[in-house]
Amino acid sequence: MLIKSPKSYQLKDHDVTDETVYQGRRTLLKSLGFIGASGLLAHSTNAQAGLFDLFKKDPVKPFKVTHLHYKKASETPQILTPEAKVTSHNNFYEFGAQKSQPAQLAQQFKVDPWQLTISGHCNNPYQLDYDDLFTSFDLEERIYRLRCVETWSMVIPWLGFPLAKLLQKAQPNSRANYVVFETLYDPQQMPGQKNRRLGGGISYPYVEGLRIDEAMNPLTLMSVGLYGKTLPPQNGAPIRLVVPWKYGFKSIKSIVAIKFVEHQPANTWNILIPREYGFYANVNPQVDHPRWSQASERRLTTGGLLARNRIKTLMFNGYSEEVAGLYKGMNLHKYY
Ligand code: MTE
Repeated sequence: MLIKSPKSYQLKDHDVTDETVYQGRRTLLKSLGFIGASGLLAHSTNAQAGLFDLFKKDPVKPFKVTHLHYKKASETPQILTPEAKVTSHNNFYEFGAQKSQPAQLAQQFKVDPWQLTISGHCNNPYQLDYDDLFTSFDLEERIYRLRCVETWSMVIPWLGFPLAKLLQKAQPNSRANYVVFETLYDPQQMPGQKNRRLGGGISYPYVEGLRIDEAMNPLTLMSVGLYGKTLPPQNGAPIRLVVPWKYGFKSIKSIVAIKFVEHQPANTWNILIPREYGFYANVNPQVDHPRWSQASERRLTTGGLLARNRIKTLMFNGYSEEVAGLYKGMNLHKYY
């Protein structure tokens, strides 16, 4: 008999629930009109603020999870990083290099209208506009650990869809060896792009890349929400990447372009400090950052940075089973 063991991110039947998962929150799907249209659907020019306004006006109405899958992960919900922490401790240098700045400076960020272009070596280049981001692919919820190179980590319930779905639709051709991602360039809206000091000295737009097999791996997620809501601007609204076995800087935010290319592309942190940040950036407790150890991490829970919750960092951030095969035979000290 063929026994298929589910991957850690896959849902078993009993994991899918039609129970209210997050009391007091309206589903973003409802806000977008997929279940029961109403006057609430009027789009605000700043859709992000619009959705949060809706939550505020009607904060206690629970929503039913019907086609939104709730994944039972190895982590129990109790150890999720609190939402308030996830949305206030950020790296989004376009809105300032300090952790608290994105939450303060990104609130007016306009995410609707939005255009995401998929192009390059493929037979079917296409574009998605704001609504398409939520409707083109089945959304699911996945609890992923995010490990930042600065040695803090969080556990976050993301909403999104596998990047592979978006890429396959474009029909990449045989020259598509890598995928490049680009963040919006809009210095009028993103003060860190205008002011070099505020923006941490980065040359914008922020760019990232993955090898095509990494991009196609089922773990790699395009996220449009967290904690049952659309993404707050500071977390990369309206759409960002989440690559859970790599250091956080690979998880590029507020993406406007995805392109299939032949050769390994440049990525922002590697351009800035190549000795410290590579292209691969796989979480690896055995390969230290030149200035500090990567053997352990501080899991951000309620206690913040001073809490005594230092834990050992796991190879590939604990996702070895799913991704170690991608790097078989590679020298991970050289390809850091
Ligand atoms: N994407 C853009 N465009 N700009 C950034 O500064 N920071 C990266 C990544 N994506 C960054 C980005 C880094 S260093 C990390 S650790 C994660 O976003 C942080 O994501 P979070 O703020 O949602 O935790």
